[in-house]
Amino acid sequence: MRLSLRFIIPLVLALGAIAYGIAPLVDDLTLKWFVRDLDIRTKLITSAVQEPLAEAITADLGPKARQQRLEGIFGRLVQDERLFAIGYCDASGKFAYRTVTLPKDIACPAPGAPLAEGGRVHAFAGGSLHVAHNSLAVNGLRLGELVIVHDMSFIERRSADTKKYIVYLFTGIGAVIALITVVIAELSWRGWVSGIKALIRGQLLADSPQPRSRELKPIARDLEALVRDLEAERRMRDESQMSWVPETLRTILREDLKGDEILIVSNREPYIHVRQGERIEVLRPASGLVTALEPVMRACSGTWIAHGAGNADREVVDADDHVRVPPESPAYTIRRVWLSKEEEAGYYYGFANEGLWPLCHIAHTRPVFRASDWEHYRAVNRRFAETVVSESRTPDPIVLVQDYHFALLPRMIRERLPGATIITFWHIPWPNPEAFGICPWREELLQGMLGSSILGFHTQFHCNNFFDTVDRYLEARVDRETFTISCGGEPTEVHRYPISIEWPLRGLAAQPPVPDCRRSVREELKLAPDVKLGVGVDRLDYTKGILERFAAIERLLEKEPDWIGKLSFLQVAAPSRSSIDEYQSLDARVRAAATRINARFASPGCQPIILRIEHHDSDRVYTLYRAADFCFVSSLHDGMNLVAKEFVATREDERGVLILSQFAGAARELPEALIVNPYDTEQCAAAIRDALVMTADEQRARMRSMRALLQEFNVYRWAGRMLLDAARMRNRRRLAGNTRPFAQPSWRA
Ligand code: G6P
Repeated sequence: MRLSLRFIIPLVLALGAIAYGIAPLVDDLTLKWFVRDLDIRTKLITSAVQEPLAEAITADLGPKARQQRLEGIFGRLVQDERLFAIGYCDASGKFAYRTVTLPKDIACPAPGAPLAEGGRVHAFAGGSLHVAHNSLAVNGLRLGELVIVHDMSFIERRSADTKKYIVYLFTGIGAVIALITVVIAELSWRGWVSGIKALIRGQLLADSPQPRSRELKPIARDLEALVRDLEAERRMRDESQMSWVPETLRTILREDLKGDEILIVSNREPYIHVRQGERIEVLRPASGLVTALEPVMRACSGTWIAHGAGNADREVVDADDHVRVPPESPAYTIRRVWLSKEEEAGYYYGFANEGLWPLCHIAHTRPVFRASDWEHYRAVNRRFAETVVSESRTPDPIVLVQDYHFALLPRMIRERLPGATIITFWHIPWPNPEAFGICPWREELLQGMLGSSILGFHTQFHCNNFFDTVDRYLEARVDRETFTISCGGEPTEVHRYPISIEWPLRGLAAQPPVPDCRRSVREELKLAPDVKLGVGVDRLDYTKGILERFAAIERLLEKEPDWIGKLSFLQVAAPSRSSIDEYQSLDARVRAAATRINARFASPGCQPIILRIEHHDSDRVYTLYRAADFCFVSSLHDGMNLVAKEFVATREDERGVLILSQFAGAARELPEALIVNPYDTEQCAAAIRDALVMTADEQRARMRSMRALLQEFNVYRWAGRMLLDAARMRNRRRLAGNTRPFAQPSWRA
């Protein structure tokens, strides 16, 4: 409306002004027209009176009778209201007749003087007069002149009227044009506004039911890019200003997510209850995933759905299969899902760990794909989807799906809880399309993952591999600029979220000072004072490069025998997936390698390799890190590897050297480590030697830099960034009023 007024008023005024400007011209023109009319009129009058006048003049009459005849002739004429006055000048140039209205200053022309063609305008007190002098002659007889005076006030009146109508006309035209323009503008503005609204709702949400009109497409693209830039900028600014602590996550949950419900799904549970005779013990599994998510869950106090794998797990749950954890100070709930031995064998050992695990890790272990494993994998994913639905108290929870055990789960949840925000995090690498393409069920796996709202990987490299894989095998729209993939249903955003550790590490406060840790560990291992200690902490897994690590130690001792008796390497390896052949074989090979190297290079008081294939709790692992001169992470392929980060985090003394595989995601964040190719034994041996001789100053400089990074990029930031992205998505969806209705699942009815 305001826009309309802003447009109409100036247009009308402009046209009014134009009308006013051209009015004098119109005046002049109309005057000329009327004067010409009056000229014609005077001629008509002259010719009309000529005959009777000639008769009256030539008739043999006395002066009085002649005068009466003249008055008779002219008296009829002056009846015409427009005729203001009339006068008759006789041949001697004197008035023989004049009406009293004839102004005094109008005289007879001199006899014989030439007469002007047409009349002239004569100013008069009451206005203007048109005065015409016309000759009178009949049959060559000159009778004199007729002075005909017309009142021009009617012309002025008409001219004024005309002026008025012209102004009215132009103003009217202006109003009509403005009105039409405004109506059209208003309609198309609405169209644009709704188009842009649809765009913001639809295109930025990318799931709008409203189609984008063709003419809006370029603007849509620009707008999207602009919004993306602004968001990225805001995100960077916000993130750089935030300090990432548990409270930050709680604030995000409270303010950005408005206390929305959070559910986590993972195969491995964070606490395992195991019966040891009469007692039930609580174990913390050796899982990077659990290490990362536990502090997040403590902050969010949601529900963690996981496979109840402990032999005493059923004994401690309530009727709903819930157990509150951590046992010492409960902060959140575990919901346990029970699997049969067959299901576990097919889904977990089979498809997940003999199929997907070697498929995604380039460690040259051949994946095994069995149709029966696939069936179990599908059925177990469905069971977890049902559990998510039964656990959710709201129609639109935030569900954090973890890892390769649940590639099918996101779509299954999406089908039942369309309003859910599903964030899937893939903790392991994503291979290139050729490598992934050998999986017989590649399309189903990709489709399943694309049920997620957000899909996260540790590195951009893995995101890119995923884009390439989808591009290769699915009919999907892969937009690498907006990091989205649209495949039928809602689009999935694919982002990099490098996982990390909590900062400061919980449990570090309980650790003895570094010198005490060193002393106690060295005493325990019976190390002579001049012996350097290296550590390796892993699950016993072929992707970890444990054999390659041993080979590097062996090579160093071969090349530089001075180190014999001066170097001991403690390898802690938590047994893992031990019913799989490949893992059993690895166990045997690792033990054999350690035995062989020790046989070659052992000396009194110094064993080159100390192998502990057993579970160690986090306190023990932290103590070992603090006691070590160096830590060797030699993964052949690893999503991130949190051991590298934990080692750095435990060294508040800023000492110790990290040797890190270039094939672990962590290498991208910790370039101050000694980065190695674990397949290059010579290089690794040299790196161990460099670590052993590195000066305290250099160790400090490298540690300081890595610690600064981890302090800033900790696990709260990892989780917080995903939750902020989820909040942004949910907010947009709410704004667009696009939250889908809660579909009541049939099994809940
Ligand atoms: C890796 C996987 C996790 C898994 C962990 C331990 O870190 O990404 O999902 O939990 O290994 O393996 P496990 O099979 O013992 O759970």
